Amino acid sequence: MPLVTTTEMFKKAYDGGYAIGAFNVNNMEIVQGITEACREEKAPVILQVSKGARAYANHTYLVKLVEAAVIECPEIPIALHLDHGPDFETCKSCIDGGFTSVMIDASSKPFAENIEITRKVVEYAHDHGVVVEAELGTLAGVEDEVKVSAEDSSYTHPEEVEEFVTKTGCDSLAIAIGTSHGAYKFTPAQCTRNEKGILVPPPLRFDVLEEVSKRLPGFPIVLHGSSSVPQEYVAMINANGGKMPDAIGIPEEQLRQAARLSVCKINIDSDLRLAMTGTIRAYFNEHPDHFDPRQYLKPARANIKELVRHKLIDVLGCAGKA
Ligand code: G3H
Ligand code: 13P
Ligand code: ZN
Repeated sequence: MPLVTTTEMFKKAYDGGYAIGAFNVNNMEIVQGITEACREEKAPVILQVSKGARAYANHTYLVKLVEAAVIECPEIPIALHLDHGPDFETCKSCIDGGFTSVMIDASSKPFAENIEITRKVVEYAHDHGVVVEAELGTLAGVEDEVKVSAEDSSYTHPEEVEEFVTKTGCDSLAIAIGTSHGAYKFTPAQCTRNEKGILVPPPLRFDVLEEVSKRLPGFPIVLHGSSSVPQEYVAMINANGGKMPDAIGIPEEQLRQAARLSVCKINIDSDLRLAMTGTIRAYFNEHPDHFDPRQYLKPARANIKELVRHKLIDVLGCAGKA
């Protein structure tokens, strides 16, 4: 089937109590690892491209890689989404250039300005059969080299969501309930220790999510910054010359719980990066004389595939839903 929008995916996910995985893609091995897992597990998927990915790999290369995945995986629905579109022009370029979904992220702007920019993108996108994700609230963390400190982040205000969605016409809404971008989502000082001495982050604000859902019945909610930062890959990186102390993510049970509620799209990028980097570091430690990229990218791609398979089955609940 050709590239799809997220409309049908989200409706089924909302009704079925699961979420669609939105995985960031930057190169061929990442596209292959994700989509091979989705094809084998019969899961719909969103492949998303950031401004940084477009700058790194080039718009056309990324679109063609995703089109190749569509040909290789004809049985599963695949959407191509712009992640954190910074302005109208970037969104327009992706809408004109083959994407089926765009995010306009004007969440750092005042409320009225966020509405105005988002509405302009929605008008253009809908005229071209493309759907739009918007954002209210500010996540902490790093994205596209913009760093938002924990103090400058803010949870979404549920009392703003109806006006925002009605005035913009957006198709899905990203909200801030305590997730954050990157591999360092919480400082150890923000966490408590469990009986095994493992750091436990503060729980997500399910009260905010529930209040938003009550005000927007049936409307798909999006969670950014939802990597769980698998400790086995952090350990693999640190055991093989890396230095990533105190990398902490979102506990997977909480993401599973969010997926059972109104969250229909869960964004995962950092976990893929950790799997790829950990695998390549370990490979070179074992094979210091190797220099063929196919040798070290092969296990990296395989581990991305197994990580995505685990997310589809155990976290998102979307395996078998294609
Ligand atoms: O939220 C940001 C995504 O992880 C993309 O990261 O801007 O470094 O490509 P990036
Ligand atoms: P992570 O950094 O938690 O993987 O979040 C990715 C994301 O939200 C992309 O938009
Ligand atoms: Zn994000």
